[in-house]
Amino acid sequence: MKYFLDSAKIDEIRKAYDTFGIDGITTNPNHIMNSGKPFYKVISELADFVKEKNIEGWENFPISVEINPHIENTNEMMEMAEKISSVCKNFVIKIPCTQSGIAAAKRLEQKGVRTNLTLVFSPTQALIAAKNGSLFVSPFIGWKENSGEDCTQYIQDIVNIYKNYGYYGKTQIICAAVRNGKQITDCAAAGADIVTAGLQVFCDSFYHPFTDYGLKKFQDAWDNTVIE
Ligand code: E4P
Repeated sequence: MKYFLDSAKIDEIRKAYDTFGIDGITTNPNHIMNSGKPFYKVISELADFVKEKNIEGWENFPISVEINPHIENTNEMMEMAEKISSVCKNFVIKIPCTQSGIAAAKRLEQKGVRTNLTLVFSPTQALIAAKNGSLFVSPFIGWKENSGEDCTQYIQDIVNIYKNYGYYGKTQIICAAVRNGKQITDCAAAGADIVTAGLQVFCDSFYHPFTDYGLKKFQDAWDNTVIE
């Protein structure tokens, strides 16, 4: 399963890439706002980053960038998607799963612009993303679980539906808004292709107190052993 970093902060992206090796990035308008920088400045920094690391192209290191969420018209969605996409070959364009968005994503894929159908909260929304050939679909986990839903079966249903109809692996399932290691495990066990989460979520998921406990125990043993 691939790990994408959900962030638009270049220092976080560098840290995650250089330390544990993320496979891609997802951004959204919220992350761009939190970076404190203008939209086109952030995406040009992301374009520079992939050049510097020699990982150009969405096949090597996909970066999801969302269109202006105010746009409701399909043609206008496509126009902005094509403008963003022309900045960098790594960009996969996030389109909301509305009727206009579904139409825009279908037509963009036909024109060779790769898309990520986002704000997905049901298996039927995930199904239309696959039927229309989107590269990614982003079912949000954390938001649903925050409101009391258990997403284990939800992700399993999407995986099973994709397997039933030959979409599995073609439209890749990005489990989004992942908040903890339990959700990462659930997504992996269900067969999701990717999880996207913030840096701290990944760092916390690598931690276990028994690792520290064991390390201390072995350090003590080492200190009480003749080495030469
Ligand atoms: C996914 O692609 C989204 O960017 C993301 O996971 C949204 O959720 P969050 O900002 O609440 O984590």
